Order: sequence, then C-alpha cells, then structure tokens
Amino acid sequence: MTGNHLAAELNPPPRLIMGPGPLMADPRVLRAMATPMLGQFDPAFLDVMARTQAMFREVYRTQNEQTLMIDGSARAGIEAALVSLIEPGDRVLVPMFGRFGHLLREIAERCGAEVVIIEQEWGKVFALDDLEKAIKRHSPRIVALVHADTSTTVAQPLEGIGALCRAQGAYLYVDACASIGCEDIRVDDWEIDAISSGLQKGLSGPPGMSPVSLSERAVKRIRNRRHVEAGVRPAGYVAGEGPRIRSNYFDLSMLMDYWGPDHLNHHTEATSMIYAAHECARIFLQEGHEAVFARHRSVEAALRAGLEAMGLTIFGDRAVKMSNVTGVFIPGGVDGDAVRKGLLTHFGIEIGTSFGPLHGKIWRIGTMGYTARKENVLICLGALEAMLLKAGFKLPAGEAVQAAIKVFDKAAR
Ligand SMILES: Cc1ncc(COP(=O)(O)O)c(C=O)c1O
Repeated sequence: MTGNHLAAELNPPPRLIMGPGPLMADPRVLRAMATPMLGQFDPAFLDVMARTQAMFREVYRTQNEQTLMIDGSARAGIEAALVSLIEPGDRVLVPMFGRFGHLLREIAERCGAEVVIIEQEWGKVFALDDLEKAIKRHSPRIVALVHADTSTTVAQPLEGIGALCRAQGAYLYVDACASIGCEDIRVDDWEIDAISSGLQKGLSGPPGMSPVSLSERAVKRIRNRRHVEAGVRPAGYVAGEGPRIRSNYFDLSMLMDYWGPDHLNHHTEATSMIYAAHECARIFLQEGHEAVFARHRSVEAALRAGLEAMGLTIFGDRAVKMSNVTGVFIPGGVDGDAVRKGLLTHFGIEIGTSFGPLHGKIWRIGTMGYTARKENVLICLGALEAMLLKAGFKLPAGEAVQAAIKVFDKAAR
C-alpha cells in the first residue's frame, strides 16, 4: 500500500444493501450523527438522553423506567442483559431455532450459567406447549429467547411466554435485534423482563447502539448485585448483596445509575450514536407502529411474489415467516456465491448468504427499515433475474418485476 493510497479520501461505492443487516441507514440518521458534540453531562445532552429513553419506551410499548441505550452493536445489549441478570450457577433455558440461539447459549455459559437447551429445526419455531413443558421440566431462573432469527427468517411468537415464565418464577429475556422496527413488540403486555435490540436493521440506523428495557422485577434482581466502583459512588451508597456482575462495561446496575437522575459517571458516552438512536426512534414513531408494520408486510409480499414468479421457492414456515427478511432456495445447478458476486459487481446490490445447515442452500434478502421500499424490491428482483439468466437458469423473463408491481398496485388501491 503506497503512502498516497493509505491517505486516500474515504469514498465508499454506492450500494443497495439488502442482506440480513446492516442495511441502508436513513440519511436523516446520518445527518443527526453529524450534529455537534455535547459534553456528556451537559443538560442539553441529558435532555437528548431522556428523550431517547422516552421514545424507546414507546417503540417497545412499555412503561419500563429502565429503558436505556448500551454502547455497542446488538450483541452488547445481549451481553449486558445476560451478564447482569445471570448469577453464576443459575439455570438458563435457551430455546434455539437458529444461529442466534447459539449466541445466547454461548454468552449465558460465559456468565457462569448452567445452560439447558431445547432445539427446533431451522425454519420452524416452538409451540407454546413445548416451551411450557420445557419451563416446567427444567425450572430455569432465566429463559433466553431470540424473537426473530435472521439466520432462519422465522420469528417466535412471544405472547404467553412471559406469563409461563412468571408462573414458574423465571425471568424472560428476549433478543429483538432483528424484529425491532418491523414486527410488533409488546414488552409490557407480553411480560418480557429484559429485551435488547440494535439500530442497524429495522430502525434504519448504523450498528453501534443497543436499546435495552428492563421490567421492575428484573431491575430489582440486578440492583441486588454487589456494585461499588470506588471514587464514583457517593458516600453512604448501599450496594446489593448478590454476586458481583462479571463485567464493568456491561454492568446494568451501574448503567442504570448513569442513565438515572443522579447520572453517576460510568463510560464516556458515544455521543453521535445517541444522536443516531434518537433519530431512529423519531423516524419510527413519526411513521407510527401500524404503518411501519404494514409497509414491511406489503414489501415482503411483493418480494415473495416476484421471487415465486421467477420459479424460485421460499424457505421456512410461512405462518411464522419474518416480514423483513426472506430466505429463498438457490436453484439446483446455480452457484449461489457467483450470483451474489454478480449482483454486487454489476448492480451494487448486496444480498445475504446463510449460516450452518442452510449454508449454500438459501440466499437471504432483507427489506428492513429504510430499505423496505418499493423501488428497492423492483430493482433487486430485476437484477436477480438478470444474474440467474446469466447463470443459465431458465425463468419466465420479466415476470418477477410485473408480479411485484401487481402486489404493490393492489396494496395501494
Ligand atoms: C437475531 C440477531 N441477534 C443478534 C444479532 C447480533 O447483532 P450484532 O451483530 O449487531 O451484534 C443479530 C445480527 O445479525 C441478529 O440477527
């Protein structure tokens, strides 16, 4: 690398990102990130933080006082929730139906939990009865569950699980990284004790901030952990008696004090990412929950119609398919990676590959947040058709885009 190249101006190629995430950030969010810095204890910044918290309470449909942002990608929110809720030796039940269940399991193990798993075939979810049986059988302290797993393109219905957990004295944690901003999430109605997500999918932002919300009973449990950081806590501060949380950065007891009325010092806040989270929430709330969900459903229906018109087959159980990512089988004889590469080099379009048992079998096409728009679906279908024809796949040329337009026209009527 020459000196000149090393110092070359940052000039990323234009892309249409339609994978499972990250996707396109809304220009409004990028503009918000470019607004001037404020000191982290400046009253003007504290006001931005408070408004961000208030908006995320609405996004999550919760009254939870403890709704706050964790610096880092969605995984940061997962780690913060699990490391703060799990006491070493706790039994944690992880119902796994995709790659991100493995992530929850791995993090819970690192937190010192005795992890029990139940598994579902990729592309399907658990029946409420099966979850009930597992919760009764294993008596976990915590149930850690993915809401929508991008790896399999299906979403676990959440209604009723929180009540089952509470009946058995367990806490319910939910990873909503892939559903927030696209699928309905009712934290209070569904009795979810801890939830975390990210900005980079349905919320049209960049990766780097994780909105978390905690029920009162989760807060009580977390507050009972021993947490005294010398030099920060005021004299007379009473710490809990539970075992100390095995992380400083992700210690939610300290983070609640930092986000709370006393604003006790913790990390240096990621100012620009708070601005991003603030704008993401504003964009979502301005459009409104129901309108956002309806837009995702209609975009997904059009994409699906277009793919099927090409003769392709959609992956997964339709009844529980996510509205914002679509798995589609790579047709026999077609090199999936070559088609993806062609989409990127000829059209500047990125679609997703897949993991684990689905690797090499399906592509995943994301239509989330700012990316979930008619023009993107039509461009993507036209480009995919061209690449499939180039790969020698026989299809009725032109029909995919027409089928999608038909769905959009019908929805507009
Ligand atoms: C369901 C789910 N959970 C967690 C994550 C991890 O998020 P991040 O990569 O932002 O840490 C992802 C990322 O794709 C995801 O889809």
